[in-house]
Amino acid sequence: TQVFQGRSFLKEVDFTRAELEYLIDFSAHVKDLKKRGVQHKFLEGKNIALLFEKTSTRTRAAFTTAAIDLGAHPEYLGKNDIQLGKKESVEDTAKVLGRMFDGIEFRGFDQAVVEGLAEHSGVPVWNGLTDEWHPTQMIADFLTIKENFGKLEGLTLVYCGDGRNNMANSLLVTGSMLGVNIHIFSPKELFPEQSVVAMAEEYAKENGSHILITEDKEAAVKGADILYTDVWVSMGEEDKFEERVNMLQPYQVNMDLVKAANNEDLIILHCLPAFHDTETVYGKDIQEKFGVSEMEITDEAFRSKYARQFDQAENRMHSIKAIMALTAGNLFVNKV
Ligand code: CP
Ligand code: NVA
Repeated sequence: TQVFQGRSFLKEVDFTRAELEYLIDFSAHVKDLKKRGVQHKFLEGKNIALLFEKTSTRTRAAFTTAAIDLGAHPEYLGKNDIQLGKKESVEDTAKVLGRMFDGIEFRGFDQAVVEGLAEHSGVPVWNGLTDEWHPTQMIADFLTIKENFGKLEGLTLVYCGDGRNNMANSLLVTGSMLGVNIHIFSPKELFPEQSVVAMAEEYAKENGSHILITEDKEAAVKGADILYTDVWVSMGEEDKFEERVNMLQPYQVNMDLVKAANNEDLIILHCLPAFHDTETVYGKDIQEKFGVSEMEITDEAFRSKYARQFDQAENRMHSIKAIMALTAGNLFVNKV
């Protein structure tokens, strides 16, 4: 039996705790190979399709460079390049791509689309972010955490801001699967959906960790090892901009919050992109419209000695490489 071969990664719960840990450790392994200049062409001669309905810097770049390092050919198919969602169904698109490609990445809105691609293509499909989950991000994030603390179990991660988005969902479920305590620090209106909380609670109980969903800053940061934040306005909800800017100010990651956490070993993570200054077009717009130049994280916190977001971004490539190699490559893992 093969543990990983032929499998899709559509959401974190597709894998067991031991399998997620294997993915994290294998990411560290391929990172080491890359750093030492050792070839690792586990996907030699394969073709990988990269479908993007939403924009991306890290995920696209990581899948592209990872595929090439693995000896595969990556093909980018943007939403204006192919018929999917306009002239052709998910099922037909999946059947066609599955005949030509050995693996398919999909980033988009609807989780049902990535599930449909997996159901009908016959090849491994990897979720590069949907409205619900961001599983490949999780392997990079927990790799980054493990690199910093040498372990995962027993740590406390505090996620600040929009508690209802894909990142909050993924961190809640993945953290509790891995024995990491997850605190969600957000306003009541943006508390995670009950179904996600229930799932996380179940895993936490199994793995000896706890979850906490709170508006209370002191309770939220108590015992924090990791402060994590994400954009206040996710892709596809641009109309909620004003509401979020007004609602989420108290949940910003800034040096006051760092101080409140009172842990010199603390690290700050952010999946990126981040809105911490006015250098970008987006930043300029925000300043003009709302008079604020920083949103979910201050520039000071973003550039502080605690920040690890660029290690985290690099780890997207190593972890995506591990995921593709194990599920679509010539690697044989019989047991985890
Ligand atoms: N973190 C992340 O998924 O970044 P991109 O949206 O740039 O891919
Ligand atoms: N919640 C963000 C994550 C970006 C990586 C979004 O969906 O836009």
